Amino acid sequence: MQTPFKIAIAGLGTVGQGVVEIIQKNAVLIEQRTGRKVEICAVSSFSASKKRAVEISQYKWVDNAAQLADLADVDCVVELIGGENGIAHELVSHALDKGKHVVTANKAMVARHGLKLAQNAEFKNVALKYEAAVAGGIPAIKTLMQGLAANNIKSVFGILNGTCNYILSEMGLSGRGFDDVLKEAQDKGYAEADPTFDVDGIDSAHKLCILSALAFGVKPDLDNVLEATSGIRGVSALDFKIAEELGYKIKLLGSAHQNDAGEIAQMVAPCLVHKSAQLASVDGSFNAVFFDGDFVDQVVNVGRGAGAGPTASAVVADIMDIMRGDESAVFGVKTRDLQGAKWIDASQNDDRFYIHLSVDDKPGVMANISSALSTHGLSIDELIQRHYHVDGPVSVVMTTHKTARGSLDLVLEKLKSLESVISIDSVFRIIKF
Ligand code: HSE
Repeated sequence: MQTPFKIAIAGLGTVGQGVVEIIQKNAVLIEQRTGRKVEICAVSSFSASKKRAVEISQYKWVDNAAQLADLADVDCVVELIGGENGIAHELVSHALDKGKHVVTANKAMVARHGLKLAQNAEFKNVALKYEAAVAGGIPAIKTLMQGLAANNIKSVFGILNGTCNYILSEMGLSGRGFDDVLKEAQDKGYAEADPTFDVDGIDSAHKLCILSALAFGVKPDLDNVLEATSGIRGVSALDFKIAEELGYKIKLLGSAHQNDAGEIAQMVAPCLVHKSAQLASVDGSFNAVFFDGDFVDQVVNVGRGAGAGPTASAVVADIMDIMRGDESAVFGVKTRDLQGAKWIDASQNDDRFYIHLSVDDKPGVMANISSALSTHGLSIDELIQRHYHVDGPVSVVMTTHKTARGSLDLVLEKLKSLESVISIDSVFRIIKF
């Protein structure tokens, strides 16, 4: 009979406690499905004495998480501390150096240091798994690495951040503004006290960078996602009202696609999604990931992207893969076969756009605006001019036909220079699926 598979868990926050709970409650099922017992042999967190939802007194306590990697009997280190650098990165690097398998939920670390960590894992012939890092309980990584492994992936996109999806869904339902809904989300514990990573799109960028690497066989390159990342702070209650009139919802989307020349575009941004699209119905804290493969066509995964149960479910599934002897390469192919991505020229990346301006209500304004658009070949699809503000400026909203981002930027520069244009309030892509 095989000896138990021994794990050490670093981080006993929400997810860490969730992992302990699954392993305690589903021990029999895990053994039946893997043919081996799993055993937690050590844990580490900030405080040994803190009251927790799970019993941990039977496990060896280690104050310094990095030392978990030094325990001779540990087969696998489970890193649930988080953060791009610091103790989490130190622990994972050290564990791989020591020839331990690693399971992590740390998207920031995998997005930033994934290539080097994958090389270390390959060198030591151990696993580095990170299903929980992308879209929590949704098996997005396994979908790409296993279910869709026979396909060239043309695009991967979706709602990758539950906090933003919750805030945007609430704004859409209630008509309230961003600050008000964010505060409520924080009071209810749905949003972090410091919401920066979520609402500024950085968390989605981490996840998209990892999905891109797997989908297109390229080295994870976070900087090239961050360059094209914007968050949801600028989405106003008025944008929701206008989008509703036009038949759209507003969603923060992460999207990566590869063209026929093998060039890739990545972006994280608030987008208008037609109400009839499947993606538009994914509301609240749910995530959704869409994959387009050359043979499978489109595959959609929807589920909870955060929380103890969903995230721990993904962590334990990774542990079970390792117990079954899964030897997949960290990013689907060996690191020597990962290419440096060739990027699509951002100015050529075309879409339809929504443009929301505040303008003075005086003769000639519309003529100047449409002249600015037509000079650069932008064709208006729909146009609304309306007094949403009593005694205030007039809102002019246009949706365009498909146009290159570079042409749009030239138009926006021209609009800014017009005396009658008070402000360019929002510019969003309109995504068609
Ligand atoms: N903060 C993330 C979200 C969950 O709101 O989706 C962890 O990545």
